[in-house]
Amino acid sequence: MKLWGALVFFIGSMAAAQEVVPLFRNDSLTTFVTMPFRLQDGSGQAISIVSIDITSSKENCQGMIDPKISSNFLVKCTKEGALSVDVYFKDSSGSMMRIVYDDITVTKISDSATVLQPVTEDPDKYKAGRDLFATYCMKCHQAAHDKANKSSTQIKSAITNIGSMKSIKLTDAQIKSISEYLNNLD
Ligand code: HEC
Repeated sequence: MKLWGALVFFIGSMAAAQEVVPLFRNDSLTTFVTMPFRLQDGSGQAISIVSIDITSSKENCQGMIDPKISSNFLVKCTKEGALSVDVYFKDSSGSMMRIVYDDITVTKISDSATVLQPVTEDPDKYKAGRDLFATYCMKCHQAAHDKANKSSTQIKSAITNIGSMKSIKLTDAQIKSISEYLNNLD
């Protein structure tokens, strides 16, 4: 798990740690892209946001709570640089809380070869691929992160060309599923 530099300030009492996570991975936090972020608790449950306040790069960035999904907020920046956002929400007892979400670096769009797919809202979406990876790959590649972002083509080519992988029998759909999982690691 990557740490996103979220600092939690306790204004009231709090049960589980809340965190802000980017729904685009941080290598897709680029200028002129509307970047979605989400507020969630330790178990991944969405938390409604009361308000947000961009506290750095103010002149270059705009932000808003997603009008359709109250646990998400959107930020768009015209210049690269550090971005810091205060995120306000209410805890279960109704006390106002604030997370200072900072250490986000927005890069120039031209620095990023491709804008990647946002991470899904559904934590089970990549379960099939994760299970296949555990069954067929983990005995040799213990950490999925070592094979992060591999495409179906790269996996197929490894199965064809790498001696110890030649015995692996998977359908195209299974390989696609593994690749989708590897492209959406936390
Ligand atoms: C029996 C051992 C073994 C199994 C099982 C195995 N691999 Fe490999 N794989 C290797 C070895 C050895 C290499 C070459 C060294 C390396 O790159 O890690 C390799 C290389 C690769 C490569 C090419 C190098 C790269 O990183 O681009 C990919 C992609 C890959 N494996 C993906 C997979 C996937 C996905 C699975 C499960 C479907 C899998 N492997 C299962 C042993 C294995």
